Amino acid sequence: MPKRQLRKGMYVETVECPQTMFDKRRFVLQHDADLEAIWAANGEYVVVNTAKGLFASEGSSAPSAKDERKRQKASETIAKSTKAMKSSLMALAVGEAQDFDSFRPMAKDMVESMAESPAIVTELTRLKTKDEGTFMHSLAVGALMSGVGLSLGMDAETVEMLGIAGILHDFGKLLIPNTILNKQGPLTAVERQIVRNHPELGYQRLVTYPEMPAMVLDVCRGHHELLDGSGYPRGLMASELDIYVRISTICDVFDALTSTRPYKKAWTGDEAISWMFSQENRFDRKLLVRLNEVTNGIGRD
Ligand SMILES: [Fe+2]
Ligand SMILES: [Fe+2]
Repeated sequence: MPKRQLRKGMYVETVECPQTMFDKRRFVLQHDADLEAIWAANGEYVVVNTAKGLFASEGSSAPSAKDERKRQKASETIAKSTKAMKSSLMALAVGEAQDFDSFRPMAKDMVESMAESPAIVTELTRLKTKDEGTFMHSLAVGALMSGVGLSLGMDAETVEMLGIAGILHDFGKLLIPNTILNKQGPLTAVERQIVRNHPELGYQRLVTYPEMPAMVLDVCRGHHELLDGSGYPRGLMASELDIYVRISTICDVFDALTSTRPYKKAWTGDEAISWMFSQENRFDRKLLVRLNEVTNGIGRD
């Protein structure tokens, strides 16, 4: 199989590259370090023994009635959360006093669904291509961020906060006129500048709420920054970007690349992660390994 489809627990017979690049063989893949080394090696394919390791205990891959029920439940959670989130975000955008706690129940629902069934992410990827682009994107980024937090073993409070930070990360876009946001054809230099300033715009508004947590503010302002300083709006360097901001960046790019847009075909999850992994020093590779676990299988069916 292509090396990007590797998952922990699979039994690796051999990695198809010169021995000096990755010489371990016949083992159950268990460590991030091995996964990263295989990704970094120059071979593209790995021979996996499906009679051993993860596959041996998985049995048939046909979706069971239980899986179907989980998917149904994930779908309902998304519908409910989208509605609640949309009204809270719109109220915030028009400057209505908004209790920050109103975001907690939807984040909590999302995190619970995510923990029980990562299918919620697949479901979001399917649904968001229809309407409600920015809202579904925000929810998807929130689900992905909390998934990465869960995978890193972060505590429940932090995981929930990551979900909220994801929901609010593009808040600044709601403050930009739709005529610019939905403009057909190329943007002028000024319009482009306005769009690129959405993290700052969102931050400036959110910071006026006294109870807004620092993580939410940092993610809103920093989600387009890159580790090598080539991001925007401030061009910060790696040392200035904490783990929460780094998580938001990869989840945001992942969701953008795997979404269908009028001018491009959606990438699979594997393609999105491979691309980020190939961008020298821009994205946190350790976190990409986690995101790969969370999103395994997206866009492949
Ligand atoms: Fe953004
Ligand atoms: Fe975004």
